[in-house]
Amino acid sequence: MNAEPLKARTRVAVIGAGPAGLMLSHLLSLSGIDSVVIDLRERADIETTLRAGILEQGTVDLMTGTGVGARLLTEGQRHEGIAIRSRGESRRIDFTALTGRAVHLYPQHEVLKDLIAARLAAGGDLRFGVSEVSVHDVTTDAPSVRFTDADGTRVELSCAVVAGCDGSQGVSRTAVPEDARTDYFHAYPHGWFGILTEAPPSSDELVYAHSERGFALISSRSPSVQRMYFQCDPAEDAGSWSDERIWAELRARVNGNGFELEEGPIIQRGVIPMRSYVIDPMRHGRLFLAGDAAHTVPPTGAKGLNLAVSDVAVLCQALERFFHQGSTELLDSYGRTASDRVWRAQHFSWWMTSMLHADADADAFGRRRQLGEIDQLTESVAGSTYLAEAYTGWPIAHTNPDSVVADTITGSADRTP
Ligand code: DHB
Repeated sequence: MNAEPLKARTRVAVIGAGPAGLMLSHLLSLSGIDSVVIDLRERADIETTLRAGILEQGTVDLMTGTGVGARLLTEGQRHEGIAIRSRGESRRIDFTALTGRAVHLYPQHEVLKDLIAARLAAGGDLRFGVSEVSVHDVTTDAPSVRFTDADGTRVELSCAVVAGCDGSQGVSRTAVPEDARTDYFHAYPHGWFGILTEAPPSSDELVYAHSERGFALISSRSPSVQRMYFQCDPAEDAGSWSDERIWAELRARVNGNGFELEEGPIIQRGVIPMRSYVIDPMRHGRLFLAGDAAHTVPPTGAKGLNLAVSDVAVLCQALERFFHQGSTELLDSYGRTASDRVWRAQHFSWWMTSMLHADADADAFGRRRQLGEIDQLTESVAGSTYLAEAYTGWPIAHTNPDSVVADTITGSADRTP
């Protein structure tokens, strides 16, 4: 099949219909900037794949402020704190008392459903189920993305800018030549064994539990479905665990002193790897990376989706300056601005992980020191305030006062570069 590809044109070619790509396309459309979003996956896959569920205050403000927050406000749950559990005692970190902020529990695939619905209602061009995606000529001012549409048509999509939002395994990251980038990578010696169970909630707020047997996290998806995780070997085979063995492990890490998990049938299970990665720079010519294409965080602290959203809020402001005012100034500073927040999140996720996980190599001193750290954190206003600030999220950089997102970015005027 050597037929000439079908030629198409847009201003921003967005690779990946995850949180970064869909949110970017949504924000750009509010500013009158057209985009085409492509994804290898089918829409049904995207709308059902289970991921984390915590939205920072800034993510909530951006969604509600741009017309995609209605379901989040009615069906999501506002959480004003978490419990840190250690030696069988829970200690609450009160986010709202410490910072005036909160988070929302609203699963990522629900965010994606809302964004897809908003894009389609606005006449947006979303192509699911594409294949053979490649990126071309990004170091010129006429880049393009080639792909095969779901119906088999070869397409050459010319654009002014490519947004690489296709995650850690996508083509965008590899389109940055090795000699033009630095890769920062860290593998953690742990995995998370994650389950979904049909049971009522065990707690009104999330419980992050430290125990001698390792970390556990009690989260929720709905009044009748709960999400729980426990630290495991990254090579663990989830299929080889009986339900009873899973519950015994969770009980041993979490139950005690009046706290008891609500148990039910386990309807899904899997092991999640834990790694940190950042690419520098987050751009190559006219290709801009956002979300997991540019960085990976371990799940502890639920920063992945929120970083994707804050990256594209910064990228949107830069693209508005470029298309509406003809200046590349904010595109040139995009990576610096976005990575400032990425590295705070890397530190926070790493720190939560190191504080709460059992380290097989730790000596008696290391194990006892960890308890001292948890006590210092939970009993000190200064310590808990750091956790509350980081968990509810740092301000999204406010770089362009003319942007459609300017009014929805709260509390960030003092961080204008
Ligand atoms: C969830 C996942 C996280 O990594 C986290 O820190 C909190 C909640 C979740 O899936 O609900």
